[in-house]
Amino acid sequence: MNYQPKPLRSSEDDDTYEKKEDLLSALTSVVRFSINKKDDIQEFFKEVVNQIYRVVSADRVSLSLKGRMECNDVSSKKRPKVVYVPINIKENDMDICIGHIKLEKGRDQNIEPEEINFLETMAYLTGLKFQNSILELVVYEGLVQTLKVLVNTVEAKDVYTKFHSHRVAQYSLGIAKIMDLPKEEKDIIKIGGILHDIGKIAIPENILLKEGKLTEEEFNVIKMHTTFGNEILKPLRFFHQERMIVLYHHERWDGSGYPEGLKGENIPLPARILAVADSFDAMTSDRIYRKARSFEDALKEIKDLAGIKYDPYVVNAFDFFLKREYLK
Ligand SMILES: [Fe+2]
Repeated sequence: MNYQPKPLRSSEDDDTYEKKEDLLSALTSVVRFSINKKDDIQEFFKEVVNQIYRVVSADRVSLSLKGRMECNDVSSKKRPKVVYVPINIKENDMDICIGHIKLEKGRDQNIEPEEINFLETMAYLTGLKFQNSILELVVYEGLVQTLKVLVNTVEAKDVYTKFHSHRVAQYSLGIAKIMDLPKEEKDIIKIGGILHDIGKIAIPENILLKEGKLTEEEFNVIKMHTTFGNEILKPLRFFHQERMIVLYHHERWDGSGYPEGLKGENIPLPARILAVADSFDAMTSDRIYRKARSFEDALKEIKDLAGIKYDPYVVNAFDFFLKREYLK
């Protein structure tokens, strides 16, 4: 990764206090950088390089996990023009070099010992953060897989809802793309879409799979799947945002939904998106008591209920998405 933003200060600037402030803020922003997804790691490395440019006036800074591993080249000269500072991770109490930060200065500049100290601290923090994040991501991926198995278990019980969650996730993601939501929100919608009915695992099968009409009491039990799902995910700190989808995907724009009767924009946007996708998939799938409706027919009903049951902006985006992808 080689890119070069403008240094924030010139090399002539020798205000020591401000430099210390810059140094502290550089270290802090590296420590605080949040890595939640695999893609964030590249962003994290960019941030490290950026923060080094803030503090050190250099011709070129790069961070590489591959290539030349000149891990012991840091202090071969007292005031070198190029240094490779190793990034280490711990394995069985041993330091394993996984890459380096490379800093180059121009012909008439040397790298000062305190700058090397700073780079070593940055490299140390980078290694530590990288190692912790990899562990967290492994745990996160493992949890997602386990939860998907749970969802499949629920859906496998009922031939009519098989793959429902995956289709809902697909439609929801399509809406999110049309609405040009940030990547972070799209990721939340993708996982939340798959997990949205996970609470159904706690609903008794005689109610969940009942073929005839549900009594009011039974329907009240079914409604509990939103709060059960929320409770299942609550102890897993990775899924805070996804939980909002699980809990609120049956809320309605006019406040007539459940579990809290939230209204309009008080319903989190990802849940408003899920509501449209979920209803559409339910309408266009076979049920034991009725045949699937056509896409055109279901879309018409969703559009008729825009501003009543569904967020009109979400319905607009869904209309656009469906016509582009399915109703060409
Ligand atoms: Fe649901």
